[in-house]
Amino acid sequence: MKKKVLLMGASGSGKTSMRSLIFSNNPASLTARLGATIDVEQNHVRFLGDLILNLWDCGGQDAFMDSYLTTQRSTIFQHVGVLIYVFDVETNEMHKDLEYYRDCLDGLRQFSPEAAVFLLVHKMDLARDKGATFERKKKELQEHSEKQGQPIPSVTVFGTSIYDESLYRAWSSIVHTLIPNAAVLSKHLTIFAEACSATEVILFERTTFLVIATSSPPTSPPRETAPFQELEATRYERTSELIKAFKHSCSRVREEFHSLEMELPEFSAVLDEMTKNTYVLIIVHDPTIETAALKLNIRMARRKFE
Ligand code: GTP
Repeated sequence: MKKKVLLMGASGSGKTSMRSLIFSNNPASLTARLGATIDVEQNHVRFLGDLILNLWDCGGQDAFMDSYLTTQRSTIFQHVGVLIYVFDVETNEMHKDLEYYRDCLDGLRQFSPEAAVFLLVHKMDLARDKGATFERKKKELQEHSEKQGQPIPSVTVFGTSIYDESLYRAWSSIVHTLIPNAAVLSKHLTIFAEACSATEVILFERTTFLVIATSSPPTSPPRETAPFQELEATRYERTSELIKAFKHSCSRVREEFHSLEMELPEFSAVLDEMTKNTYVLIIVHDPTIETAALKLNIRMARRKFE
């Protein structure tokens, strides 16, 4: 099953940078060397089993944009699963960006009316008052997504930056909408978490380390000491970001990343391959549970998740 993802936005807004971070495991510091994208660069990324993301990185220079909206219109906008439109938070050309965005939405309404739309207010690291700036931009973008007499597409806005975990949060959420059996996966993970007496179990895609699914949060803590209330809201995207950075460090010393085990006084964690395309992370707050047992459980659960 192929899902087409359009990545659009003005030239220099950061599209190729985010693609190279998420899909090619490059560090943010190297993105300054990327050249402008000429026309469309297509990538195929195999997610879970038979789900393939077909990513179209559309170069944002005006001449290319004009061509997407005219001669290439049907090629670009048909069979789209998701449109990701990137806005540079610091742009001096918001008016022009919005005009192109609205034209793209028209193309989408015409050829892929069912597509989901995600808007990224990008380079948030450069914004001064982050909270207020984001809210202002979000409102502006939502207003410009509406068109009189036309159905309003489902538009979700994220603030992102390649220098922190916010990019992983946005992309995990985007990918999540494309996974057809996400709810079933989540149910299986919850059962698996219970079997391991785990606080939480998280499934990541292998190359991108985006979060595919998580076990549902435990309703009641099995132990009084378990600090469930203190679980960080940003823990998933932080983990994606940290593991990607760690994988990059491994590759620099020509080592391959395989698995990870942590035993700390407060909790223990095991990160290991689950299937060909996924990694699983188990977090346990019960000190009596050995990580070896968790690894054994992963091995036994593999067949179920393949
Ligand atoms: P086209 O290919 O011409 O459409 O441009 P693009 O949208 O692909 O832009 P690109 O990814 O090439 O990024 C342009 C510049 O923005 C690069 O120098 C990146 O280092 C920088 N950049 C990308 N993301 C961020 C970010 O989150 N914060 C900051 N400060 N800079 C960023």
